[in-house]
Amino acid sequence: MASTSWWSSENFWRKTAIGVTTLMLVVLIVLTFHSVSVITAGSQRVPAYSAINQRVDYRFDTKRNVMVPVLGEEAPLFGKVLTAEEAEALVTKGKLTIQAKNCINCHTLLGNGSYYAPDLTKAWLDPAWGSAAVREQLMVNFLLDPTTNARGFGSNRRMPKLGITEEEARAIVAFLKWMSTIDTNGFPNNYKSIQQEG
Ligand code: HEC
Repeated sequence: MASTSWWSSENFWRKTAIGVTTLMLVVLIVLTFHSVSVITAGSQRVPAYSAINQRVDYRFDTKRNVMVPVLGEEAPLFGKVLTAEEAEALVTKGKLTIQAKNCINCHTLLGNGSYYAPDLTKAWLDPAWGSAAVREQLMVNFLLDPTTNARGFGSNRRMPKLGITEEEARAIVAFLKWMSTIDTNGFPNNYKSIQQEG
């Protein structure tokens, strides 16, 4: 009887299947932990929530060939420096409001959502807010009454009034400021940022 060679034996393929599955399971677990670590606030590309206490610039990085957010001097949101806990609570409230009002029914955040209205990832840095000095208040005014306070964000569409309270509007602004600090490899592309004096 002709003997089967080792590479065509059932035993060899069974062991190989088990070995490859085990190896890939380990790889998947390692990648999952790695992904979580790089998307967590306070990591290299996703700054801590307290970044809302700082000025955010958007500069061209010649080495990477993309625009990157750069945190600058102290520039507290609504004039008040927040502790790490307070900043987290405010940004989280903003995120929950954005989810509750379903903003991604029209907008995208980090590219996820709908294409009816502008991507909000860098909305904090949008030149339409005029200047860094008045931006916060103009953003709050806009969110409270988007029709009256529209500033020309490059579309001919109008955002409806969504029944947002002033407190919620401030939290949304905090969320948008924090989001603008995330290093998104230059996304969205060709984005021009607000002029900041000084
Ligand atoms: C029904 C669609 C719709 C919904 C829902 C909506 N928006 Fe908008 N939004 C728009 C449109 C349209 C514009 C652009 C208006 C313009 O060009 O004048 C806009 C503009 C904006 C801008 C200015 C964008 C920029 O580039 O600076 C911000 C900030 C914004 N929306 C935030 C929100 C938030 C936060 C929510 C949820 C609470 C939300 N929007 C829900 C339609 C929507």
